[in-house]
Formats: sequence, C-alpha cells, structure tokens
Amino acid sequence: MFFPSRQSFLRVVDVTKRFPGVLALDSVTLELYLSEIHSILGENGSGKSTLAKVIAGIYVPDRGYIEILGKPMKLLSPVDAVNYGIYYIPQNPNLVERLTVVENILIALKSYSAFARVSEVRSLIVEESQKIGSLIDPEAEVSELSYTQRQIVELVKASLLRARVLLVDEVTTYLPTSVREKFYSYLRKLKSENKIVLLITHKVSEAVDVADRITVMRSGRIVKTIEKAEFDVDYVRKLMFGENGYISEPPKNVLLKDLTTENRRAVVKLDRVWVISESRGYALKDIELSVKPGEILGVVGISGSGQRELAEVLVGLRSIRSGRYYVDGLDVTNRGPEAIRAAGIGFISETPLYHNLSGDLSLVENLALATYGKLFLPLKLLTAKTRELMEKYGIISTSPKTPVKVLSGGNIMRFTIARELEFAKKALIVLNPSRSLDEKFKWSFINTIKNISRSTDMSVIYISESLDEVLQVSDTVAVINGGRIVGVFSRESVEREVLEKLMVM
Ligand SMILES: Nc1ncnc2c1ncn2[C@@H]1O[C@H](COP(=O)(O)OP(=O)(O)OP(=O)(O)O)[C@@H](O)[C@H]1O
Ligand SMILES: [Mg+2]
Repeated sequence: MFFPSRQSFLRVVDVTKRFPGVLALDSVTLELYLSEIHSILGENGSGKSTLAKVIAGIYVPDRGYIEILGKPMKLLSPVDAVNYGIYYIPQNPNLVERLTVVENILIALKSYSAFARVSEVRSLIVEESQKIGSLIDPEAEVSELSYTQRQIVELVKASLLRARVLLVDEVTTYLPTSVREKFYSYLRKLKSENKIVLLITHKVSEAVDVADRITVMRSGRIVKTIEKAEFDVDYVRKLMFGENGYISEPPKNVLLKDLTTENRRAVVKLDRVWVISESRGYALKDIELSVKPGEILGVVGISGSGQRELAEVLVGLRSIRSGRYYVDGLDVTNRGPEAIRAAGIGFISETPLYHNLSGDLSLVENLALATYGKLFLPLKLLTAKTRELMEKYGIISTSPKTPVKVLSGGNIMRFTIARELEFAKKALIVLNPSRSLDEKFKWSFINTIKNISRSTDMSVIYISESLDEVLQVSDTVAVINGGRIVGVFSRESVEREVLEKLMVM
C-alpha cells in the first residue's frame, strides 16, 4: 500500500526494556505519523504502558532508541520529550492531592514556560476541560476530585502544554459513556490539527471504532500493525490472544442457587437509604437492597446512575443521610469502613489505587494491612502467601516486595481481586471490575466469583455498567437509574430488553 500524504514524526527503533524478572519490551519497532490516531492494543502486561513511557522519556530502554523527525534520541529525557510536544497521560493520574487544579497546572506550566498567568490559566482550564469531556473547577483541590476528573485535569495539562503527540494510557477505560463520546471528538480534533494520538487500550471494539491504525502487542512484542481496511474484531482478537487463546464467554451458569427456599436472613441489607450527592440533590434515593448467603446480586445501570456511590456506601466510604445499613443483622449505618470490613465485607473497586490499595507499599504489605489489619505477622509467612496468590491469579510482578504502583494496570486489578477474595468472608462488593482487565481474564474472574459463592456461601453485589457481565454472573438483577433502584428480577425470568429499557428510561 502507498500512502503519499503520510509524514513520519517519531520512530521507536528496536527497543528492548527489561525489569527484574520481566521482559517488558522485546525488540519493538514502530513508526508514528502525523495526523493519526494509533491504537496500541494488548492483553494485561503485554507492554503497552512501558512502550508509552519509553516514548515519553520516562524509561530509558536497555537497547534501541527513539527517533524524532529523523534524529535519533539516544537518551531521551522526559523534559526533551515535552519539548518535542510528547505528553504521557498516565493510567493512574499523577497529581498533587493537596493542591488545587490550577496550582497543579501552574507547576507543570512553570517548568516549561516562563509566562503563565494565573487568571488566564484559570479560564483556560474551564474552556479546555469542557472541550475534553466535562467542566473542572480550577479552584477545586485535587483530593476532592473523582478519578475521571483527575484524568481530565491531566488532559487539560497536556493541552495547555501544547502536546503534539498525546499518549493516552487507558484513559477511556474510566470515562463515563457521556464523556467518552466527547473525548473521542476531542481526539479527532487533535488529529485534524496534524497531531498524533497514541490510544492505549485493551478494548478491541474501541480500537476498531476510533483508530486509524492498530498495533497489537503480546508479551512485549509487536504482533502486527494493521491498517483501517483490515480492521475486524475477530481478526484483531486472534492477533491479541493467539488463535485459540480467546474465550468469548464462559459456559452458562454452573448452577443457579435456589434462593426462594432459603429463608435465611439477608447478609447485606440497605433499608430505604438516601445519600447526598457532591453536586446537588441526592446521589442515591430510597435504596432497598438485600442479598442472601451465596446469592449474587447484579446491579446494572448506565454510568453516572449511582453505581459508584452505591459501592462506596456499601463499604463505608460514603455517609448515609437517612435509612439503615445492616450486615448480618448488625446495624453498621455510618460506622465507617473499618467496622464494615471487620464484619467481613470485601471490596473490589474499579480504581483500587484510589479506593483501597496503597501504591507505595509492596504487595506483601498491602496484603497484610487489608487482610489481617496489621503488619506484625511473620514476614516469611506473608511473603509465602503473597507468592501463592501471585501464582494462583497470574499476577506478574518482579517480587512480592515490589511497590504495587509499578505493576501494570491489569496486574494491580488481579492483585486486588486475589486479596479481596482471600479476605471477604461474608460478602464481596464489586464495582466495574472488568475495566482494567483484558477480556480473557474478565471471564475467568467471573467464573471464580460464581464458584466461590456457590461453594462457600459468600454473597456478592456485582455493580457494573455491563449488562453482558451482569447477566452472566447474577442470580438476581437490579437496575439502577438516576440513583434509584427501578426494578429487581430473578435472572431466569427476565428478558434482556426489559433491563435495557429500565437502564435508559
Ligand atoms: N517499573 C516496573 N518494575 C517492574 N516491573 C514492571 C514495571 N513496569 C512494568 N512492569 C512489568 O512489565 C510488564 C509490562 O507492563 P506494562 O505496564 O507495560 O503492561 P500493560 O500492557 O500496560 O498492561 P495493563 O493492560 O495491565 O496495563 C508487566 O509484567 C509489568 O508488571
Ligand atoms: Mg498499562
């Protein structure tokens, strides 16, 4: 094929990057053209983030180099990269929590430009954030912002730094549907301005919809770069997982629990719960929910309908304005996360580093703290336990002593799953778990949850935006819409269309 208009801007030349015990990039060569949206697609741990960090000068490769406009950059530093307009938007936002949005952005601007005027920057933040996805208040302290808002701040920063090559690492994974469409338009606008977007994702459908070219990675290598004319979901999946590696969906339910005959009391019960929203009004309205031993209750709804708030209430991270919350008959209303954890409730969050893991601590330490509530346990025993979990859940990490934050996004999620499944004795609250998991691991996780709840009587509240997942995993399905539960059904007796209607009505 001949593309006369293509203009190369940057080349990754034969790059290899090794971490202790892991070959993250293996002789990777890739060329980026001006005015393209180029998607990097690959399963968890395949090297996507590492590749972006090499391009942004954050990691120095062991072998190979980056070439910009034909010039080899043997020791590209992050400052060089920014000077060339290369900007990395990390998978986990990297902002100073105790400073406001405008302060965070000023820090970034001041390092690269002497002329940053505060009032000007403030209005630019308002303007840009609206273009990118949703309005951000420049005076808000970062610690008050949601995960998505933090990502938008990172994007505003890049935009104000006049990024020419924008490396977006799984950013779309967490954006609510409404914001996502706007964000795609923003990316297309960058493209029309002759810029380059490197869109890192593990979602095949997203890459196929949005990108001009797709590069598939597996185990640190480039499998293939394909042009738009060759885009096909099945073909791309095969490139990603190998000929037989992809499991579309697990076999239908192992066995459905007969919940009607079990007249046991609810493990988790919300009784007419109202919760205030940050913006205005109520985020949750008059919520009635209960789940029996061994039952899997799916709560499905489109994004922004109160799922995150519901999960936070259930784990004690958000206070209840009126109504009661019981665990096994015990009133835990507004007793805080410790009491709820002590009652045996685990939490698998879509954003573990935001909700319940400490990125600076090692896997062993995170396991110790969350599972046993203390660090004073024989280190040998804990380390052995961590290794066992790493093995069982396929967590790739240099060692159990590695700080959690250096693991790949999917590996962090796997670790959370391992730890919480280990911990939760009574019930597990799960919030959009599949966001950072590749498709293969997602279904195996769903199977694991089903098997555990069947064999141990652990209850699960599976809160998700994905109707496919909820239908696959649940015994009972509830629909949440506008902060209200608008229907509860036994999975066997409800049609998909009914649920879809309730989700959007
Ligand atoms: N700083 C580091 N120290 C040690 N190991 C690392 C480091 N960064 C990445 N790794 C490991 O290198 C491999 C590739 O990681 P990378 O983050 O590039 O994967 P990824 O494709 O982005 O995966 P995900 O979809 O899970 O985010 C993983 O096994 C990861 O655990
Ligand atoms: Mg990654």
